[in-house]
Amino acid sequence: MSKNPFVLDPTARRRTEEEAELHSAEGPVLVDILGEQAWAVGDPELLARLLTDPRVSKDPRQHWPRFIAGEIVGKWPLYLQVAVDNMFTAYGPDHRRLRRLVSPAFALRRMTSLMPSVEQNTEDLLDELARRAEEIVDLRDAFAVQLPIRVISDLLGVPEAMRTRFRSTIDRIWDTTSTPEEATASTADVYAMLEEHIRAKRAVPGDDLTSVLIAARDDEGDGTALTERELIDTLLLVVAAGYETTVNLIDSAVTALLADPAQLAHVREGRATWDDVVEEALRFAAPVSHMPMRYAVEDIEVSGGETIRKGDAILPSFGAASNHPRIHGESAAQFDVTRENKSHMAFGHGVHYCLGAPLARAEGVTALSGLFDRFPHIRLAMPLTELEPVPSILGNGHRSLKVRLQAE
Ligand code: HEM
Repeated sequence: MSKNPFVLDPTARRRTEEEAELHSAEGPVLVDILGEQAWAVGDPELLARLLTDPRVSKDPRQHWPRFIAGEIVGKWPLYLQVAVDNMFTAYGPDHRRLRRLVSPAFALRRMTSLMPSVEQNTEDLLDELARRAEEIVDLRDAFAVQLPIRVISDLLGVPEAMRTRFRSTIDRIWDTTSTPEEATASTADVYAMLEEHIRAKRAVPGDDLTSVLIAARDDEGDGTALTERELIDTLLLVVAAGYETTVNLIDSAVTALLADPAQLAHVREGRATWDDVVEEALRFAAPVSHMPMRYAVEDIEVSGGETIRKGDAILPSFGAASNHPRIHGESAAQFDVTRENKSHMAFGHGVHYCLGAPLARAEGVTALSGLFDRFPHIRLAMPLTELEPVPSILGNGHRSLKVRLQAE
C-alpha cells in the first residue's frame, strides 16, 4: 500500500462525499483511517464476496503484520475495536468455537423473553417524555440513547447504581476524535468497569447474559470454554455492538420521518409498516458506516484491476454498500418506506453476521411505533441544516435531535 489514500474524516462531516467516492469506484478504495491505510469496500457484491472468502480474516494477531509488529497500539483511536479478543476479531475455527459458546446467550428464546423489558422500558421512557412535553427535548439523549442502554443493561444484569457510569464509559469508545491519551484512558476505564461487573456476578449470579457467559467460562475446563480475557471482551462486544448501533437506528429513523412527513403518512395510512420503516432506515443510514477491520491472508485479486496484498487491511463500508445506487437506483439516497427492495448490509454479511439483529429490529419497531403513537404531533425543533453528525467514522447518528412533542 502506498499511493495517495483517500482520507476518511474522523468528524464524519464528509460522510455523503465519502459514500459517493466509494459508490463511484469499481473496486476497493485505498483510504487513510486515522493514520492507518486500508482498502475500503462499499461495493455490495465485492463486499459480500470478500466477507465469505476464507482468505479474509478478522484476526489482527494472526494476519495484520502492523499489529503483529507492535505498531498498532492503545493510542490509535480504533485500537480497542481491533485488539479485543472475542468472536468479533476471531478467524476460522477460533471464531466458530467462540460463536458457538456465545450463541446460546442470543437464542431466540432469550431474545423473545427480553421483549417485555423492551416494551416496559419504552413505556417508562415515553411517560418521562410526556412530563417534558412543553419543552424542546433532545430526543437522541432522552429516548434513542436511553432505550438500548436500559435493554443492554437488563440483558447483562447491570445494577441501577452502575448504569450512568456504564453509559458514559461506553460512549467514549465510539468517539474517533479522542486524543491518544483519552483513547488509552477510555480503554482502561472500560476494562475496570467490566471486571467489577464480572466480580459482582460471580459472587451473586442472576438470570442474565453475564452469568450465562461466566458459566461458559467456568464450567468446561476442557479447553473449549471462554478464557478470562475472552469473557471480558465478549461482554465488551455485546455492549459496544448492541448499544450505539441501536441508538443510531432509532435516531436516523425518527429524523427521516420528521424530515419528510409524507413518509410518516405512508405508515399512518397503512401503505407501509413499522418494519418497513426500520428496514428502510437501516438501508438509508446504516448505523455502522465502516467496521474495522479485515486482513488479507493471501493476495486477493479484485475488480477494478486491483490486488489486495497479503497482510493489507480491508475496511468493510457497510453504509456505502447498503445505499448503493447500483442496487437501489437513482433514488438510492432518498428515504422511501414504500420502496420494494430495501435490501442492505447494515448487519454485515457472512460468518460475523450480527447476532443481535432480531433484538435491534424489535427495539426499533417498539420504539418508533410507541413514540409516534404517543406523540402524534411530534416535529423537529431545529432546522435540518443544523443536524450535526456524531463525530465517528464508525457510528452514523446525530449529536442531538431537538424536537417538540406536542402541537402548540
Ligand atoms: C441496529 C443495530 C445493530 C447494527 C446496525 C449492528 C451491526 C452489526 C454488524 C455490521 C456486525 C458485523 C461486523 C463485521 O462483520 O465486522 C455485527 C456483529 C455483531 N453484533 Fe450487531 N448490530 C446491531 C445491534 C446489535 C445488538 C443489539 C447486539 C447484542 C445485544 C449485537 C451484537 C452483535 C455481535 C455479538 C456481533 C458479532 C458477531 C460475530 O463476530 O460473529 N448487535 N453487528
